[in-house]
Amino acid sequence: MSMTEAARRVLYLRRMGIDVWQRRSLAPASGAAAVDTPLPGAEVPPPDEGGGRSDWQALQDQVRECRQCTLCETRRNTVFGVGSPQADLLLIGEAPGAEEDRRGEPFVGAAGKLLDNMLRAIDLDRTTVFIANVLKCRPPANRDPRPEEIQACSAYLNAQLRHIRPRVILALGKVSAQALLQSSAPLKAMRERWHAAGPEQTPMMVTYHPAYLLRRPDDKARAWRDLCAVRDRLREPA
Ligand code: URA
Repeated sequence: MSMTEAARRVLYLRRMGIDVWQRRSLAPASGAAAVDTPLPGAEVPPPDEGGGRSDWQALQDQVRECRQCTLCETRRNTVFGVGSPQADLLLIGEAPGAEEDRRGEPFVGAAGKLLDNMLRAIDLDRTTVFIANVLKCRPPANRDPRPEEIQACSAYLNAQLRHIRPRVILALGKVSAQALLQSSAPLKAMRERWHAAGPEQTPMMVTYHPAYLLRRPDDKARAWRDLCAVRDRLREPA
């Protein structure tokens, strides 16, 4: 017997750790969409298409060999991203952590599991979206990315955005949102409204970082609200 949509939603919300039976009051979303400036940064040189490799593969090679900032000296692996290069939704986190650096994949570990559950809650998974980070290399001891590192790495994110051409970006956490919007606004001020970000001014929603949600599960209900806005936008005709 197939599960009803309502039952499935309850199941997913529970996986996200949301108490679906409890009413929560949330502030209304603020008004009109804001238009923000694109992510800055030099463009990466056009990939060398020799040898039959695709642009996408060439970009991955460029990232793997990158020495644009000092993070290359301490990284084990670059973390290019994971998912479909044709995805409608691009999720952008901050930077790889220790486990991501070891495995070369974004959002592994507890925060990654929560992110997977958040995606499943809107009927997506990491094969149908693309997950990337502002930085492709781990900052030592998980310190915050430095402005010059964000600047150096922005060319790769811009190239990913240009290649994927997602319909929607979801920025995960303050660092990602601030980098994409060139803003120092607090997360609270950036949530619950549509922005436009990246070289193609892609519609962008901002939500909490999954690692923050693990520490502050009460905010999962607000994150759910952000996810629903993304899901609804993706359901609109292209
Ligand atoms: N946090 C991030 O922002 N990105 C990752 O890939 C892992 C943890």
